[in-house]
Amino acid sequence: MLSLKCPSPDRWLENVCPHLDELLIDHAHCEKKAAGTAMNLLFAYPEQTELAGDLSAIVNEELDHYRQVLGQLANYGIRFRRLKPAAYGKRLHEAIRPNEPGRAVDRLLVAALIEARSCERFDLLRRSIDDEKLAAFYGSLFESEARHHSTYVQMACRFSSQEEVRSRLDELAGLEADIIQEGDSLPRMHS
Ligand SMILES: [Fe+2]
Ligand SMILES: [Fe+2]
Repeated sequence: MLSLKCPSPDRWLENVCPHLDELLIDHAHCEKKAAGTAMNLLFAYPEQTELAGDLSAIVNEELDHYRQVLGQLANYGIRFRRLKPAAYGKRLHEAIRPNEPGRAVDRLLVAALIEARSCERFDLLRRSIDDEKLAAFYGSLFESEARHHSTYVQMACRFSSQEEVRSRLDELAGLEADIIQEGDSLPRMHS
């Protein structure tokens, strides 16, 4: 699904379901980071004016998601706080090549994969959790994260050929799958 090379292992749901409060806090951080990623790309590649529209739309949508998750936290009476993040994002970012244009391609493809994994997990949550309102909330975010995935892959094609982007996406998706299969003991959206 969406370039991912493996589904989430069953143990992920088993790990997060007893900690849905903490997962929601982590989710808020993820939406904030997603807005930051798009904003950083906007600053890094200002000469790519064709990207500005898509990136600024993603910044707005992710900030809107952030506000929505904060609203959910308030509804459930959960206090927003700092959390130790899963190692997932850091490990993916370590694979980004240092030199342009490979760096731009990798930054966009890593963002695309993170969107894809979020999407896969929102789908798992909407189908698995008993709280119908929370399940519907996760369901409501599914489509926009799927769209962000495709937009990031298309943006990468502005820096390299479609063939090279496909091949690099395949490599990075392999790494992403390895990280996911290894897992992380923290109950996080990307553990
Ligand atoms: Fe989002
Ligand atoms: Fe997104």
